Amino acid sequence: MAVLQDRRLLITGVLTEGSIAYAVAQRAQEEGAQIVLTGFGRGMRITTRIANRLPDPPDVLELDVTDPAHLEAVATELEQRWGALDGVLHAIAFAPEDALGGEFLATPPESAQTAFMTSAYSLKALAAGLLPLLEKGDHSSIVGLDFDATVAWPAYDWMGVSKAALESVNRYLARDLGPKGVRSNLVSAGPIKTIAAGSIPGFETLAQAWDNQAPMAWNTKDAGPVADACLFLLSGLARGVTGEIVHVDGGYHAMGAPRPPDEPAPEPEPSA
Ligand SMILES: NC(=O)c1ccc[n+]([C@@H]2O[C@H](COP(=O)([O-])OP(=O)(O)OC[C@H]3O[C@@H](n4cnc5c(N)ncnc54)[C@H](O)[C@@H]3O)[C@@H](O)[C@H]2O)c1
Repeated sequence: MAVLQDRRLLITGVLTEGSIAYAVAQRAQEEGAQIVLTGFGRGMRITTRIANRLPDPPDVLELDVTDPAHLEAVATELEQRWGALDGVLHAIAFAPEDALGGEFLATPPESAQTAFMTSAYSLKALAAGLLPLLEKGDHSSIVGLDFDATVAWPAYDWMGVSKAALESVNRYLARDLGPKGVRSNLVSAGPIKTIAAGSIPGFETLAQAWDNQAPMAWNTKDAGPVADACLFLLSGLARGVTGEIVHVDGGYHAMGAPRPPDEPAPEPEPSA
C-alpha cells in the first residue's frame, strides 16, 4: 500500500515549482494522499496556477497564517470537506529585509517580531486552529521546516532566531498534543534554491559551505530528499515519533569542520 494512502493533508507554502512544499505535495499525491493547498496574499494567484501542474490539481484555500479569521475559515472548510485531518505541512517563513543580511544589531523590534510571528508562532497558530480536526484524524501529524538553529549563520539573523523559536514551539506542541494523539516534528533542511532562500542575502555563501562540509553531495535544486522525510513524518510509519528534528542536509550538521582541501568532494547523485 502507498505510504500516504487516503491520508487527508493540508499543505501550506506552495509558491513555485521550486518550493519545498511543492515537492511534498507532488510526492504526497503519488503516495495516495488527498491534499488541499493554501496560498498567501498576492502569491495566491501563482499558487493556484502552480497547483494545476500537480498530478491531480488540488483546491487552494487562502491563508495568511497571521490572520486568525483565515485560520478559522480554513478549519471550517476542511471540517465540511473531510470532517477530520491526518496531517498538515507548515512550510511558511518570512522576515523583513532589515531582519536579514548581517545587520543583526540594527534590526528594529517590529521587524524581529514580524519574523517571529510569521515563521515561529505561526506553527502554534496553525496547530491550534486545526486541532479539533487533527484530533479526529488517524495518527495525525504536524510537520514544519527548519534550518538548523543550534548555531549562528552568516546573514540569517532574525530568521535564525525565529527558527530557534520554531524548534522550541515544536517541542511544546509535542508535549501538549501528544496526549491528544497528534504529533509534531520538524525537518531541518540543507539549503534549497527557492524564493524564500533567494531573499536571504548571502544564501550562496551558505550553499558553498555545504559543498565544502557536507559528507554527502547536496543538490540545492532538488527538494526531493527533504520532501521524502516530510512524507515519512506525515505517515503512519512515524506514529511513534514526536518532538523530533530530522536533519535532511547531507550530514552537514554532524561535521565539525570542512573537508581537508586535498580530499575530493562527494559525487552528486542524479536528481530523483
Ligand atoms: N530553502 C531553503 O534553503 C530552506 C532550508 C531550510 C528550511 N526552509 C524552510 O522551508 C519553508 C518553505 O520555504 P521554501 O524555501 O520552500 O520557500 P518558498 O518561498 O517557496 O515558500 C515560503 C512560503 O511561505 C509563505 N508565506 C510567507 N508568509 C506567509 C503568511 N503570512 N501566511 C502564509 N504563508 C506565508 C509564502 O507564500 C511561500 O509559499 C520555510 O519555513 C523555510 O524557512 C527552507
